Amino acid sequence: MSGDRSGSGAYGAAVAAVLGAPLLLAGCGGKEDILHPHSHAEHRISVVWWVTMIGAWIGFGVIVFGLFLGWWRRNRPNLPFGGGERAATLLVIGLGVGVPIVVLSLLFVWADIFVIRSTDAPAASSTSLTVKVIGHQWWWEVRYPGTKAVTANEIHIPVGTRVDVVGTTADVIHSIWVPELNRKIDVIPGRTNSMLWDADRPGVYEGRCSEFCGLQHAHMSLLVFAQPRAQYEAWLRKEAKPAAASTLTGARVFLSHACSGCHQIRGTGARGLVGPDLTHLMSRTTLAAGTIANTRDDLANWIIDPQHFKPGNKMPALNISGPDLDALLAYLRSLK
Ligand code: CUA
Repeated sequence: MSGDRSGSGAYGAAVAAVLGAPLLLAGCGGKEDILHPHSHAEHRISVVWWVTMIGAWIGFGVIVFGLFLGWWRRNRPNLPFGGGERAATLLVIGLGVGVPIVVLSLLFVWADIFVIRSTDAPAASSTSLTVKVIGHQWWWEVRYPGTKAVTANEIHIPVGTRVDVVGTTADVIHSIWVPELNRKIDVIPGRTNSMLWDADRPGVYEGRCSEFCGLQHAHMSLLVFAQPRAQYEAWLRKEAKPAAASTLTGARVFLSHACSGCHQIRGTGARGLVGPDLTHLMSRTTLAAGTIANTRDDLANWIIDPQHFKPGNKMPALNISGPDLDALLAYLRSLK
């Protein structure tokens, strides 16, 4: 008897876990949370989410009720409200085919035509700012058209401003997704896609690549810093400047090793475009697209063995150690 009771208790818990999982999972992910929208577009998307979710639960309830009713009346051939075989067939076709067609069509028109269109970037003339985001295996290049600013993996935008995010790719398909700011857009070779970000409060919004793009797809994060306009403009002015002339030994180490073949430091002889622009490396909080922190130790470990942190990435171990490594680190950490 007690065995039965604990058995049904475990069964109940399992059912509750299965039924509750979508709601629980929806709360996962901390800052990457579509249910905490911080832009006009994401507000509309979260309304679609709730309506779909609640509608699905109501539909599920109706079906379970119907199943229960069928089981309850299993020995009675007629419908509870009368009617014969023909009425039953009409009921099945109406509820099983007619209602889904109507409901899904309405949902399609509302979500895919009205809501999704409203989250697109409007004509370029109506936005005050464009940011170009270019996907690479496995990091994000970020450019601000009309300025010389180039950075990576960390995007600064002014808060309360419509920002047109224009996405392209340098290699395979990636997808840009910052869940609190808008839907995702795929970046596809040969195509340009765009969407609108208008953060409603200052803060850091986390995002990531959401289209499988190879071995290190999971290590392709991005951060969006929404700042008051004055702060954003100061950041952009600084970011647009070339690196200050440096007399540090590390500058020579950078140029004489393979570093400069792949990385650009504007204002120096380093003009590589394979890896991220390092002109203002220290203005970023993370390295390797959010994989590690931008600290001296992590930077050193990254230079010594980048394949340890991100196997398959394009950066080779450079065999730099001792005084050369110290000098290189001192130089890189001077790139403010
Ligand atoms: Cu880039 Cu997944």
